[in-house]
This record gives sequence, structure tokens and C-alpha cells, in this order.
Amino acid sequence: MVEKAEIRRSSCALPIGVFDSGIGGLTVAAALRGLLPGEQIYYIGDTARVPYGGKSAVTIERYSFEISRMLLEEGAKLIVVACNTASALAVSRLRETLDVPVIGVIEPGAAAAVAATKTQRVGVMGTRATVQSRAYERAIHALRPEVSVEAQACPLLVPLIEEGWLDDGVTAQVIARYLDPMLEKGIDTLVLGCTHYPLLYKALEKHVGPFVRLVDSARNCALEVQSVLEARGLSCADGQNGGLQVALTDPSTSFLKVAEQSLGLDVGEVRLRSVG
Ligand code: DGL
Repeated sequence: MVEKAEIRRSSCALPIGVFDSGIGGLTVAAALRGLLPGEQIYYIGDTARVPYGGKSAVTIERYSFEISRMLLEEGAKLIVVACNTASALAVSRLRETLDVPVIGVIEPGAAAAVAATKTQRVGVMGTRATVQSRAYERAIHALRPEVSVEAQACPLLVPLIEEGWLDDGVTAQVIARYLDPMLEKGIDTLVLGCTHYPLLYKALEKHVGPFVRLVDSARNCALEVQSVLEARGLSCADGQNGGLQVALTDPSTSFLKVAEQSLGLDVGEVRLRSVG
């Protein structure tokens, strides 16, 4: 018992490491803060090299390893890959190589989509790299092979969101152009397969209507983190004294304001880390 209590205490001193290509992964950090208020979260946004979504698999993997190592230097007890693109292209190699548990957003999102669909037709929106990787299709088919998956790359949405055009006619037109072909194919569930898209939740909900369920992997990822921490005796579930430390690899912060406002998250003082 004493030993267990000691493990728990020392786990509380260690943060959950979270990384994203930039600021968008704060959607996942916000979900973690909500579900696990006792945990310390150390978030690194690779703002110097964002976006990852149009880059090659080799580069995305290299960046993911570099940022993960920085999180390990901070003592991370578990790493959350909040970025869908990095989750799609680097999680399996990170898992093979690193000594701590690594959780991405693809599998939790796929599980939520499979649980939500009634017609067995699921749409996935994401960056070009995520869609080209077919990672969501694989994860969904591993759970239920008969689900048909329509995936659409939506590269124009990230810049519109970063501009803060969340409730805007131009954004609504872009949403329609990307989503209508999937809606015509009868999807009843749509996976928001990019960190940024939860910030467009209202606009997306308005466009798809009441019969299409939106699946946001942030909350499902947080639930997965909770269960892995508990299973490994690493959780700090009892406390309320957790916190969020945000570090960025470039100090430009205009999107940070948009994200903080939309998520109701106060990130406090941001650290600057150099990378590469
Ligand atoms: N974080 C990325 C994702 O979730 C979106 C931004 C980028 O392209 O880097 O896929």
C-alpha cells in the first residue's frame, strides 16, 4: 500500500506530455484538463514548423520524434500526440521506440465514430497527409470492417480557423464545398480529424444538420489517457492541483488568442523552446 501511494505521489510530479504541430492541439489539452484536473500537462506546439498537414511522412515522423524527446526531457510519463497528422503518420513508430505510453487521436476518434454510426457510413475530414495516410479507414475497419468510410482533405480550413473566421460566410462556403459530396453519399457520422476543427463545431453542426453526428476525438482521446494512466498506476486522479504549461517553438501567438477564447482556456505564460 505504501509503495502504491509512493508511486502515485511521484506520478503526480510527472506531467502528461502533449504535442501538436501548433496551437490547435489545445483542444485536446482542454479536454484533458476537464477530465483530469489533478494532472500536470506539458504542451508543446511546434509553431516554428506548423503546418504538418501538407508535409511528407518522413518529415512528420522526424518532427514527431524531436518534439517527443523534448517532452521526455520534461519527464513526461505518457505522451499524447494531439495532432491528427502526426498521429496518422508517427504514432506506431513512436510506440515502438519510446519507453512511455503513446496515445494518438486516431484510434479514439475511430472508436467513437464506430459507436455513433447507425447507417455504417462515416465521413472523415482532415489534412491532406492524414487523408492520404488512410489511418482513419484502417482504424475504423479494424473495429468494424463493414463501415464505409468517405474521407475528404480540407486544407483551406486550418488557415481560416487560425484567422479566427469561425462564424463567417466564407468559411461556411468552404465547409459546404468540402462536405457536400460526403453528405450526398449518406454519411450519418463525421469525424473531425484535425485538431482545429472542434473550433468550427457550431458552423459544421449548422451545415450537416441534425441527422449527422459530429465526432470530436479530443474527448475520446482524454478518456483513453485516463484509462491508460489508471491501468498503469500512473494517474493522479485524486488531486485538483494539476495545471497546464504551454511551450511553443516560435513565439507568434495570434492564433493562441483565438484558441484561448474559443476553448475558455487560460494558458498563462508561454515558454519558448527551440527545436531542430
Ligand atoms: N494539427 C494538425 C492536425 O491535427 C493540423 C495543422 C497542421 O496541418 O499542422 O492534423
